[in-house]
Amino acid sequence: MKTRVIQVDPQQPSASALADAADVLSRRGLVAFATETVYGLGALATDPAAVDRIYHAKGRPPFNPLIVHVEGITQARQFTAVWPKAADRLAGTFWPGPLTLVLNRSSLIPDIVTGGRETVALRVPLPPVARGLIERVGQPLAAPSANRSNRLSPTRAEHVLSDLDGRIDLILDSGPTSFGLESTVLDLTGSPLRILRPGPIGPEEIAQCLGGLDQVASTREDVAGPPGELPASPGMLNVHYAPRTPALRVDAIEDLAKISWPEKPALLVLGPAALPDLPDALHLVELPEPEAAGQRLYSILHECDALYLDVIIIVMPPDQPEWRTIRDRLVRAARPVAG
Ligand code: TXA
Ligand code: MG
Repeated sequence: MKTRVIQVDPQQPSASALADAADVLSRRGLVAFATETVYGLGALATDPAAVDRIYHAKGRPPFNPLIVHVEGITQARQFTAVWPKAADRLAGTFWPGPLTLVLNRSSLIPDIVTGGRETVALRVPLPPVARGLIERVGQPLAAPSANRSNRLSPTRAEHVLSDLDGRIDLILDSGPTSFGLESTVLDLTGSPLRILRPGPIGPEEIAQCLGGLDQVASTREDVAGPPGELPASPGMLNVHYAPRTPALRVDAIEDLAKISWPEKPALLVLGPAALPDLPDALHLVELPEPEAAGQRLYSILHECDALYLDVIIIVMPPDQPEWRTIRDRLVRAARPVAG
């Protein structure tokens, strides 16, 4: 299969590009498009054969469910069996935006989208390209991140192409995404509400929006579930969001003393830090500020892969709320340095 790439204006995508992409989707094709977080790989959510192609293109295990991208609250309600008050408040506040809500699904959602679960994950993306595409097709789009399974999420069209060239029909290239990290996934089907994946919308904002209506839990133990049971969210398992280059993390700048540097190392420093003396041939990236760090993180890791570096050493950012999502992804991307 030949993968086409069409350049589109991120703010004002042309009607012909959207019509072209919608046509591909209606024929059960796969179209990658930018959301505000990462690029998604879209297919018609109501068509099991189309959704099946997503799993094949990504090499994704069938038990890992997909997020369904909808136009707005009205469409979301059609695909849920129950629409609780908390969903109304959260969607009213954060949609369109990087918050995914897990709710009980209606019969319109095929089993293949949810890996057989009775719940469905829904969100309304923000960018005009994503919204225009959903409107144009007139149907919700199942769209996981547009990468091979267990690889890094793409924040640029080039990342999608290098991972999925020849496996998907079309990429709408509207430039780099704005947040750069995946959406917050919040499970509303139980009590307390559970954050299954930390993201741009934090537990404080969620709790504040709900005004004490519900409790919000966000521990990793919650997500893992009891031993022997299916995890609440398969995508929260480790070995996710990882670059191909071996990656090691240290908690503090002083721990760099433990490193025996190979020939072609990268050093990625998150958070403010005064650097010690370092090897000359070092691919050094400093990201002192959380917002810019989130936006650039995956792009930098993709770049390290493209340069075929020997190792990426990562200095972890401080354990503070504004670094929470980045810390979560780095713990999955990199192993701790031994010793
Ligand atoms: O920002 C994002 O969320 C991006 C853009 C494209 O929207 N999408 C994304 O999709 O990151 P994906 O498939 O890479 O990650 C979706 C996560 C996975 O961890 C998956 O297990 C979880 O959401 N998930 C999906 N449906 C679920 C459900 N019904 N119950 C629990 N977890 C679910
Ligand atoms: Mg993903």
